[in-house]
Amino acid sequence: MIDESIVRQEILKIEPYVPGKPIEEVKRELGLEEVIKLASNENPLGPAPQAIKKMKEAAKQVNIYPDGNVHYLRQKLAAKVGVREEELIFGNGSDELLALLAQTFITEQAEVIIAGTTFSEYRFATNIMGGKIVSVPLKDYAHDLEAMAAAITPNTKLIFICNPNNPTGTIVTKEEVDNFLKQVPDDVLVIFDEAYYEYVDNPAYPETVNYLANHENIIILRTFSKAYALAGLRIGYGIANQKLIDYIDRVRQPFNVNLMAQKAAIASLEAEEHLAKSVELNQSGKEYLYQEFDKLGLEYLPTSSNFILVDLAQDSAWVFQELMERGIIIRNMESFGYQDKIRVTVGLPEENQVFITQLKEVLNN
Ligand SMILES: Cc1ncc(COP(=O)(O)O)c(C=O)c1O
Repeated sequence: MIDESIVRQEILKIEPYVPGKPIEEVKRELGLEEVIKLASNENPLGPAPQAIKKMKEAAKQVNIYPDGNVHYLRQKLAAKVGVREEELIFGNGSDELLALLAQTFITEQAEVIIAGTTFSEYRFATNIMGGKIVSVPLKDYAHDLEAMAAAITPNTKLIFICNPNNPTGTIVTKEEVDNFLKQVPDDVLVIFDEAYYEYVDNPAYPETVNYLANHENIIILRTFSKAYALAGLRIGYGIANQKLIDYIDRVRQPFNVNLMAQKAAIASLEAEEHLAKSVELNQSGKEYLYQEFDKLGLEYLPTSSNFILVDLAQDSAWVFQELMERGIIIRNMESFGYQDKIRVTVGLPEENQVFITQLKEVLNN
């Protein structure tokens, strides 16, 4: 008989990931023709034209396996980031890298320190490997690095720092990280997830690559899914000491990053003007949304990212549902423990306007 006893017991603890609803699903379910998705922190501008051109060319070559070593992108990115090629690892999205990190380092005895309200994949990856999650509540909606340092024990193996933090959009500063790292033993790995790195405009944000020279225990994760607009292709990367990269690389599947993603990522790195445009669009969209939330008397957290956490001061589940029925998908924050809040991705100007118009109507009804 098939029952729970057949699976690894760690698996039973795992709750399925709840992604932002796909546009096609909402159209199908609600019979809508126009749907705007502001739920998954994607770049609303779309990929750089140069990247699209490379994808089209690459389509003719997908009968062959991709370069498992990601040679050309590795070369380009190493030069851009200012590290050696051996200090990079690529993944099928940074999600895959989180899984690889867990598989490489987390044992059953291992304690993994994770902020109380952050990206859910750190818990997911830890739970799959049977590690013990040590949850440290946010302080003023940001990672409490003092409390995270205080939570370190001889069993601590990994510490996840989501910077900027999803879903609050807050950062930890260079000063905070400097103090924190002084308290972390050499054999405890600190993972900085910088998925929204390109959007950050706060001068206090740490350039974590600079820590690599003096800290062998740091791993930085970034992605092409957000500002580089390649979420559908699945490509992210890790930066760390070569010894760590070599260990993680043992767990990696040989052809984990597909051919189209590699080519499009190179073109996206070259398309600097598209990145700048994406960041500017985000900046102006943020300011527009702040103004509108102010007018509506809604509190929100100023963000270092491309999404905003907004407090509706009332149960948000029905607002989420009402907006969806009007063709706007945002993120309900219930699964993060914020019953009264929503998270909205900054969209194109017209998308932001439609969202605000509909939000006003829903709240006034
Ligand atoms: C903080 C954070 N890290 C990682 C990811 C995953 O990114 P990727 O598409 O590279 O797997 C996301 C996606 O939403 C994220 O918000």
